[in-house]
Amino acid sequence: MTGRLQDSVAIITGGSNGIGRACAERFSAEGAKILIADLLTEPGEAAAQAINDAGGTASFFELEAANPEANHAMAAAAVERYGQIDVVVTAAGVSSADYKSGDIEGGLKRMARMAEASENNPAAALTELDIDDWRRVLDVNLTGTLLAIQATAGVMVDQGRPGSIVTIASIAARDPLWGSPSYPVSKAGVWMLTKNAAKTLAPLGVRVNSIGPGFIETNMTAAFSQVDEFHEGIINNTPMGRKGRPEEIASVALFLASEDASYVTGELIHPDGGWFTG
Ligand SMILES: NC(=O)c1ccc[n+]([C@@H]2O[C@H](COP(=O)([O-])OP(=O)(O)OC[C@H]3O[C@@H](n4cnc5c(N)ncnc54)[C@H](O)[C@@H]3O)[C@@H](O)[C@H]2O)c1
Repeated sequence: MTGRLQDSVAIITGGSNGIGRACAERFSAEGAKILIADLLTEPGEAAAQAINDAGGTASFFELEAANPEANHAMAAAAVERYGQIDVVVTAAGVSSADYKSGDIEGGLKRMARMAEASENNPAAALTELDIDDWRRVLDVNLTGTLLAIQATAGVMVDQGRPGSIVTIASIAARDPLWGSPSYPVSKAGVWMLTKNAAKTLAPLGVRVNSIGPGFIETNMTAAFSQVDEFHEGIINNTPMGRKGRPEEIASVALFLASEDASYVTGELIHPDGGWFTG
């Protein structure tokens, strides 16, 4: 049977873990060759190996998402290894400047620091926000998304075949949630960047859409899940009463990446268990 991405090539930034990795696996199962691009080498190599072991074709590229040259080198690597670029998913992201995927202890310490600061000053997350934290989150989440689009869109246009870019925003693009403004502002930026890029690239045959997940079971939310107050807050505000699974985001990404969404561009879709029903 022919897959929905048969013979296409997909770059997945942030593909070493979580949502990005789920996209890499799903897209491979649908016939795409995969370039996993991520800061973290070990889980990225393992993710590529798992895809190859399952009969797919994947390799790893070390990427600092906020670095322009690295993004161009990533696009060049995809063309060199697989001959083309058809799909790009920009899942590389951080929830704070010192976020490291998989470091749950670090996440718990960060939450404890934030709780203490807001006990002393309820406005601390805003008024005491470290400007370097703000800059790094915007650099990775927003500028990183722009750089990946810049590095790959031209290649797609020059190929003369339809292409699809899927950015990963968040419910935080439209809901300030709580705490530091860095993350929600970065994701609101990703949403508007997606719409702007969609408008520019539509006449050139490249669609650009965004996914705004609710709370998904990945390293990014693992620390939240260990603190009852946060976990209950998330579950109580999610009408479906549970966090989502990375595969449930990958299936939306597959729709947007594939010809099934051939008339869809500039959209933000929320697989969020009903978060925005209010
Ligand atoms: N998990 C959720 O609930 C949730 C909800 C909404 C949006 N998101 C977004 O989904 C995306 C994927 O997150 P996830 O939940 O799978 O978390 P994750 O930690 O499992 O995956 C994020 C990946 O991005 C990589 N990364 C981080 N900084 C990078 C950099 N500077 N350069 C290259 N790679 C970098 C990490 O190494 C990691 O592999 C992120 O953009 C996140 O903001 C997640």
